[in-house]
Amino acid sequence: MGVLVLDFGGQYKELIAGTVRNLSVYSEIKPGNMPVDEIKRLKPIGIILTGGPNSVYLRDAPKCDAGLFELGIPVLGICYGMQLMCHILGGEVAPGGAGEYGRVKITPSGPSELLGDGQFDALMSHRDIVTRLPEGFNITAVTDNCIAACENNIKKLYGVQFHPETKHTNGGREIIARFLYDICGAAVDYKIDNYIESQVANIKQAVGDRKVLLALSGGVDSSVCAALLSRAVPGQLTCIFVDHGCMRLNEGDQVEHIFAERELNFIRVNAQARFLSRLRGVREPELKRKIIGEEFIRVFEEEARKLGNIKLLAQGTIYPDIVESGGEYGAVIKSHHNVGGLPDNLDFEGLIEPLSGLFKDEVRVLGKKLGLPSKLVNRQPFPGPGLAIRIIGRVTKRKLDILRQADAILREELDGMRNKPSQYFAVLTDTRTVGIKGDNRTYEPVIAIRAVSTDDFMTCEYTPLSHKILARVSSRITSEILSVSRVVYDISSKPPALIEWE
Ligand code: XMP
Repeated sequence: MGVLVLDFGGQYKELIAGTVRNLSVYSEIKPGNMPVDEIKRLKPIGIILTGGPNSVYLRDAPKCDAGLFELGIPVLGICYGMQLMCHILGGEVAPGGAGEYGRVKITPSGPSELLGDGQFDALMSHRDIVTRLPEGFNITAVTDNCIAACENNIKKLYGVQFHPETKHTNGGREIIARFLYDICGAAVDYKIDNYIESQVANIKQAVGDRKVLLALSGGVDSSVCAALLSRAVPGQLTCIFVDHGCMRLNEGDQVEHIFAERELNFIRVNAQARFLSRLRGVREPELKRKIIGEEFIRVFEEEARKLGNIKLLAQGTIYPDIVESGGEYGAVIKSHHNVGGLPDNLDFEGLIEPLSGLFKDEVRVLGKKLGLPSKLVNRQPFPGPGLAIRIIGRVTKRKLDILRQADAILREELDGMRNKPSQYFAVLTDTRTVGIKGDNRTYEPVIAIRAVSTDDFMTCEYTPLSHKILARVSSRITSEILSVSRVVYDISSKPPALIEWE
């Protein structure tokens, strides 16, 4: 099955599994306490133990089945994973004083099958340290404060206190590659092309001659899902796109343009007025989200009913959705659907989630291979409730139009940048300030600019846009949109700020 990534609550588990797949080796994430019999059944060629926020010596700390170290399968423990391996095999782990956080110099201290030659910088994020290694292990690298890496070559057990999976570790990818190819003997055989073939076959078999319904948002996941389904069962798919009126400038038309001409039985439901009416007077962010989610389902149900007897529902659920909801993927069709917001009591016989084994970057590659335009495939994330949660306070048609214009200007200015931020957008605040336009005093709302850099959207740094770009964006927004008096720049990182404002 490739490499098994056992999860102990580490924030980088998806990065680990994603890096393995990037290196063309299949990987899956499973709970850290998976029993050894189940592990054996999966027949992994290697096991990686993730980091985690706990201390191994505490009673409730998550543990793995000790038997996995006796299987003869190579194991790489990362951070908590290394501590856990050492603790279980008779070593000693203790609180490490102030700990090490950030990039730290690693010094190799003996021959290693895993590490390269010479010193390198690596990302450390730990307080506990391994103070004594289990029998049979050698120290292969140190920092000023800890044992940074260890190995037992006979048993093929390896530990690193740092995080090779993040780009903050120089040569980290090579370390994982050495583990995969040199130590586990992995073949380079995981390719997205194979995924397309196998999923097309699975979908064909699961769908037979029935019809399938897909809720298409125009986002990357549902769009790629639509493309894959139309490759597998052309003519049997119907896509419902609900335009809730909180989309960006011309977005509804763009989605329609891209999909209407494909063989998707594309149905656009213009429900703008209905959503606006439900949102009238609502200020509270969570309530806005709830209302939009519910209304979406109502519209979808109504349309599904009109279409009569379609018994299969498809969703663009991806692997992180499954991992984060604590579930597992496997069969293409599941008997019930619990991810993605649609309720269980919709009248469908089965659920098709052909992307449920893929990470976001893999979904993008798949989308390109399926012939979707790169503009669509490389779209930034856009929240389901859309601009409604980028308008602070009450949502009105007028405010939506102002924000759409401001957001379009920002995107026009930033879209051509060489090193673009990972996500950027405008927010319409509920603050009004005084200004002057022509000879008239104005009292108009403030637009905030948000631009962030991130790999995973779970944390982010604000992007330090140049003053030149900021000045141009500000000048265009305040001159082209009459009812904006001022532009401010959000320089918060996550945590503590989230990416979205509501
Ligand atoms: P936050 O605001 O939680 O956002 O830092 C993290 C990422 O998720 C996106 N986001 C959403 N995406 N539905 C979505 O599909 C939502 O309701 C939603 N809320 C936030 C956000 O744009 C960012 O990329």
